[in-house]
Amino acid sequence: MIRESTVERVRSAKNVFALTGAGVSAESGVPTFRGGGGATVWKGMPFDVISSAQMVERDLAAVWEWFDYRRGVLRELKPNAAHTTLAEWEEKFNDFTLATQNIDGLHAAAGLKDVLELHGTIWQARCLACDRSKSLRDERGGEQPQRPPVCGTCGGEMRPDVVLFGEMLPANVLERAAEAAERCDVCFVIGTSGVVYPAAGLAEIAKRAGAYVIEINPERTALSDLCDETIKGQAGEILPRFQI
Ligand code: OAD
Repeated sequence: MIRESTVERVRSAKNVFALTGAGVSAESGVPTFRGGGGATVWKGMPFDVISSAQMVERDLAAVWEWFDYRRGVLRELKPNAAHTTLAEWEEKFNDFTLATQNIDGLHAAAGLKDVLELHGTIWQARCLACDRSKSLRDERGGEQPQRPPVCGTCGGEMRPDVVLFGEMLPANVLERAAEAAERCDVCFVIGTSGVVYPAAGLAEIAKRAGAYVIEINPERTALSDLCDETIKGQAGEILPRFQI
């Protein structure tokens, strides 16, 4: 159930900020990292080991194998009602900013034009030597692409353009997200367990700056106590009900 007063508050908001996590893609078939029967493990390695900065140095081939596997899964998946509703909100609100921890590209696939990808994107590679990036979108499933990819500019080895454990978030992206969190009157926290920082800290920034913080999640999270209200349920069912 969503309270009528909450719907009204959201409808009349001028500046809206949304922070999303893996749960927003769950209804598309993307597995979450936590909850629902234990943490993700791949070839015996917990995801925070295979997705770590040290693994890039130790075994870049294994890192590519893991992200190629995930990209293969994602290639078949479509945005759900949560993604499409949030893409519509970008058009409807005066000022709407969405920052996601997801690397799956599903917000953009739903039509959201300006997505702040705090943890990068699985659809790009980045050169370890010169930092240039290139899209992996054109790689076809089935064919075996070159691994690691070679940079077209300097010939260096490339890595997935994602933020791994032990790495900093892209400073300009985090800065824009923090600014939006600071100026919003309503902040949505959708489908995140709220345990990974600095992303989770964006909800704290919004709250400290006086925003009304609404969480959408079937479970309680590390951010629930900070939120003004938690709407229990699936993002793809709850978000369209606001009928902005
Ligand atoms: P988690 O897997 O930690 O949390 C997913 C959250 O989504 C949980 O709180 C679930 O209860 C909730 N959830 C599940 N289904 C949902 C649905 N249909 N609608 C709404 N919520 C739902 O994912 P994140 O919080 O995104 O970082 O994880 C944060 C970061 O941890 C990830 O970006 C990744 C990971 O390590 C990196 O890889 C750097």
